[in-house]
Amino acid sequence: MTRAVQISQPGGPEQLKIADVAVGDPGAGEIRIRHRAVGLNFIDVYHRTGVYPLPMPATLGMEAAGVVEAVGPDVERLRIGQLVALSWLVPCGVCRACRAGRPWACPDSPSFRHRMPDGATVLATGDGEPVLSYCGIGTMSAAAVVPEAAAIAMPDGVDPAVAALIGCCVSTGVGAVVKTAVVPAGASVAVIGLGGVGLSCVMGAALAEASRIIAVDRVEGKLAIARSVGATDGLLASADRGQTIAALRDMTDGGPDFIFEAIGRVDTVELAVEALPLGGTAVLVGMTPFEARASFAVYPLVDGSRRILGSNYGFADPPVDFPRYAALHRDGRLPIDRLIDRRIGLDDVESAFDRLRSGDGLRQVVVFD
Ligand SMILES: NC(=O)c1ccc[n+]([C@@H]2O[C@H](COP(=O)([O-])OP(=O)(O)OC[C@H]3O[C@@H](n4cnc5c(N)ncnc54)[C@H](O)[C@@H]3O)[C@@H](O)[C@H]2O)c1
Repeated sequence: MTRAVQISQPGGPEQLKIADVAVGDPGAGEIRIRHRAVGLNFIDVYHRTGVYPLPMPATLGMEAAGVVEAVGPDVERLRIGQLVALSWLVPCGVCRACRAGRPWACPDSPSFRHRMPDGATVLATGDGEPVLSYCGIGTMSAAAVVPEAAAIAMPDGVDPAVAALIGCCVSTGVGAVVKTAVVPAGASVAVIGLGGVGLSCVMGAALAEASRIIAVDRVEGKLAIARSVGATDGLLASADRGQTIAALRDMTDGGPDFIFEAIGRVDTVELAVEALPLGGTAVLVGMTPFEARASFAVYPLVDGSRRILGSNYGFADPPVDFPRYAALHRDGRLPIDRLIDRRIGLDDVESAFDRLRSGDGLRQVVVFD
């Protein structure tokens, strides 16, 4: 048995329980992981509230690292005792996107069925009812069985909490800058929204040697934190978006070359597009509700050669990128540890959700001894 955060249907505290669930032995191509650190991500809120429908009962969570506890038959890449970070997207390997070398765009990933690749479920309630595992990893538990392909070995000495964040927010934010947008040295950058994802965009912009990195949030305290991970300027978002746009233009001689939206709100998506200078690029990283629509003026986009890019998972190729981001952290070039402001126990997860919804804190990480 293992303790796991389980939701039976979307809703409030009454729908979330921390229950004992049975976790089986790993089958062929699977491992059992004992989690050491699990980050909370805003997408977990979308599942709690039903904004993104998830078949239930399910174990939540998409950002974790832990130690390999057992390996099933045919597991060759991993060994017991190794620290691994989990990827929430295991590409199918055969679709058009995978064949073209874009695993982050795979529409047929077995992860999206919230089961093992062979269709099996690996968790069950005390009554034997199957429990789905979000993206096949369902990280908010003390232990889980996951596909070997989802577990990426991390270099020795990496803090498990840092490894957990590499599994989602760091790869998403850093990758949006260095892989999706390929920001060149000397460019000016603005990042709107300074949660784990936005602060990772800031770190990515510093890594790319952007000349000006303007960090924008509605919470003043976030601006100083952004400076500590590489921002050159902080800008408190105004309730009047015209004022925010005017300030961005003033600070960058007409608008930042690259603007990253890392919240998932229609008004800030529109702000990002509107504030672009000639030839500028808006990169949309925040996830909106499915039905959200934004609008923009077409003529200046075309006439001014402006661009809008979407970035899923920071174009991550986890086996290549996770160890690379860990090495950059070790070398002092990605201060990932500064994104973590609370290390909590599994029993504190409900209050951690409240804090996540308020937008006030940084990354909260559930840690296990
Ligand atoms: N593209 C991807 O693959 C991917 C992967 C993971 C997460 N995401 C998405 O990235 C987004 C950010 O995730 P997170 O975990 O960092 O969220 P978070 O809640 O930790 O951070 C959001 C930040 O935005 C700020 N904010 C909110 N409204 C604002 C406004 N009107 N103006 C300025 N700032 C405002 C908040 O104060 C907070 O600092 C979410 O939409 C999440 O779903 C995308």
